[in-house]
Amino acid sequence: PEPGWTTYADVVVVGSGIAGLTAALRLYGQVGKILVVTKDVLDAGSTQWAQGGIAAALGPGDTPAQHEHDTLVAGAGGCDRDAVRALVTEGPAAVRELISWGAVFDQHEGALSLTREGGHLRDRIAHAGGDATGAEIQRALIAAVGKAPEIEVIQHALAVDLLPAADGGVAGLTLHVLGEGQIDGVGQVLCRAVVLASGGLGQVFSQSTNPSVATGDGMALAIRAGATLRDLEFVQFHPTVMWLGEESQGQQPLISEAVRGEGAFLFDDAGRRIMEGVHPLADLAPRDVVAKAITRRMHETGRPHAWLDARHLGADFWERRFPTILATARVHGVDPVSELIPVAPAQHYASGGVATDLWGRAAGVPGLYATGEVACSGVHGANRLASNSLLEGLVFSRRIAEVLPGELRDRTDPVVDPRPEGLLPGSARSAVQEVMTDRVGVLRTAAGLASAGSDLAALAAEPATEPGPDSWETTNLVTVSRALTAAATLREETRGSHWRDDFPARDDAEWAGHIDVVVDRGRP
Ligand code: SIN
Repeated sequence: PEPGWTTYADVVVVGSGIAGLTAALRLYGQVGKILVVTKDVLDAGSTQWAQGGIAAALGPGDTPAQHEHDTLVAGAGGCDRDAVRALVTEGPAAVRELISWGAVFDQHEGALSLTREGGHLRDRIAHAGGDATGAEIQRALIAAVGKAPEIEVIQHALAVDLLPAADGGVAGLTLHVLGEGQIDGVGQVLCRAVVLASGGLGQVFSQSTNPSVATGDGMALAIRAGATLRDLEFVQFHPTVMWLGEESQGQQPLISEAVRGEGAFLFDDAGRRIMEGVHPLADLAPRDVVAKAITRRMHETGRPHAWLDARHLGADFWERRFPTILATARVHGVDPVSELIPVAPAQHYASGGVATDLWGRAAGVPGLYATGEVACSGVHGANRLASNSLLEGLVFSRRIAEVLPGELRDRTDPVVDPRPEGLLPGSARSAVQEVMTDRVGVLRTAAGLASAGSDLAALAAEPATEPGPDSWETTNLVTVSRALTAAATLREETRGSHWRDDFPARDDAEWAGHIDVVVDRGRP
């Protein structure tokens, strides 16, 4: 169908978590009209769910150099050093700015209360409301945006596709809006730059800590626009996600690493410590090491989960420090004050995404910028260090706002309508998730990846259906799943969160670089 409406903006920001709203606030006053579009309501994305906190060298005895060291070690040889340097040196000022915008972090004796998580050699995780850090940040950012009248927001707006200009750059984007008064249905925004801040792809897998909106839309849209996608094979599985039974699908409850940071331990069914002897940091080893050790032990014991013991923290401490986790665990019938918590690894974070330079410019598409989980800025490498993700959104959105106003393109009309011939029915969604969880999850082999690739190709060839949010999301899930599976197939080594059972060693001679996926402006 023809677009039902056309509107105009200077800059469109896609997504409303920490990355999107920071970009909008930082661009405010530097460019004309800023339009923030978000697929659900403003706080429906992953930022809202972040528990542990935000990492920055803010404490006594800590330095950006130490934070850089820990980030590079966790990244297992896959980080871009300049990007990491930018993250850690600009991080403290970025967090202070967030505080100046109204975010309230927990304090101890008049200073920020800082904790530790896996892979950090210093206490540097700032947190809010105990374990509700993301919710506080999201609240503060929404309030700040509310005071900036020239930032217009459209909720319930799925970003469908970029509209290309004659030079291959950005001329605008199409949106599918569900019930926003004047603007409804499929329409287009003509604009001079697009900032993608649309988050991750957790719903590609059957169990994820990500909310239901995380369907890889920004990555799929970027693939279709001819952008370069990088490091997609590095999908992080969080080691301690509450295990709710084999049948539980979709978003699962996270038990923050900060619980181990405060002294909890992992055990198997026989009461043996899982992390002892595996890594010098034991239960606070980097998250890929812990996720692998748990998975290995689960295979050995034939059990679907491990146990987290945090009973010794005591009722008062639990209530003060982890009120959200405590309440959620109790809702699911486990009282962490007196009982062990069943945990298993589940998908948590996409370390790869739309390849950007140090200023958030997306490779291959002039006028397109990317920040936050949708982007691959190079800071995470093969395995993101805990609590670096909120920080990445802050720092790189600030960086985009440094350069974008001087790079605004002239408005042009789009040259072609890029909308697809065929979209996949929503009914294919669970089939995609099954394939990805089974064969492209925490443990990968050439045979499994090959059969996943052919099953995904068969799904992509299914008869087309009508455009709509459900068919768009499902198509996007298949698009990013195919790109991720292709990258995982190519990387014949084990590194960071990419674990190949058939290539168990890290191979720096052959595989130290990145794997880029570029699709030539077409449907996969
Ligand atoms: C957590 O609280 O364990 C999550 C932190 C993160 O993913 O960085």
